[in-house]
Amino acid sequence: MLGLQLPTDPRWVNIVEKNIEEILTDHAYCEQKAASTAISLIVSFPEYTELVQEMVALVKEEISHFKMVHDRILERGWVMGRDRKDEYVIQITQFFPKGGSRTTQLVHRLLYAALIEARSCERFRLLSEELEDKELAEFYRKLMVSEANHYTMFLRFARQYGDRTEVDAKWKELLEFEAQVMKDLGKKETIHG
Ligand SMILES: [Fe+2]
Ligand SMILES: [Fe+2]
Repeated sequence: MLGLQLPTDPRWVNIVEKNIEEILTDHAYCEQKAASTAISLIVSFPEYTELVQEMVALVKEEISHFKMVHDRILERGWVMGRDRKDEYVIQITQFFPKGGSRTTQLVHRLLYAALIEARSCERFRLLSEELEDKELAEFYRKLMVSEANHYTMFLRFARQYGDRTEVDAKWKELLEFEAQVMKDLGKKETIHG
């Protein structure tokens, strides 16, 4: 699915179900980070006009996702807790060497964003299929569709702005690396854990 090489063990959902407060909290931060990534791309790469336009739309969409998750936290009588460390994102975003031309840096950031969207989408799909709470499962089904579109958009921009052959080779390497990282994950009640 989505080019990912290692599917998540469905038993991860059993861990999640025991702690819905934890998954919703972590998820709320993922949506915040998605919005701030889009803002950061707007700030750093103003000359990429089409990207800027799409990122403006994305900021709005991701912040609305944040509100939806936040509302669910409040509905259950909870107050949003502090941010969790996202080991997955920390490891993934160290894959490409730092530096290079502006275009290279942009391509790397777009590929990281595509990958994080793809893995989030895969996790949401699993939640939509396996969660006992059918209302929450339906919520994740809708979000899965949005994140799949974001994955496609980021990958398309990477291919558009970078050299197609080079970008495809980098994407393949990143996917292989991600599969290695994922081998140790799938044991925590967080979106990427
Ligand atoms: Fe989102
Ligand atoms: Fe997204």
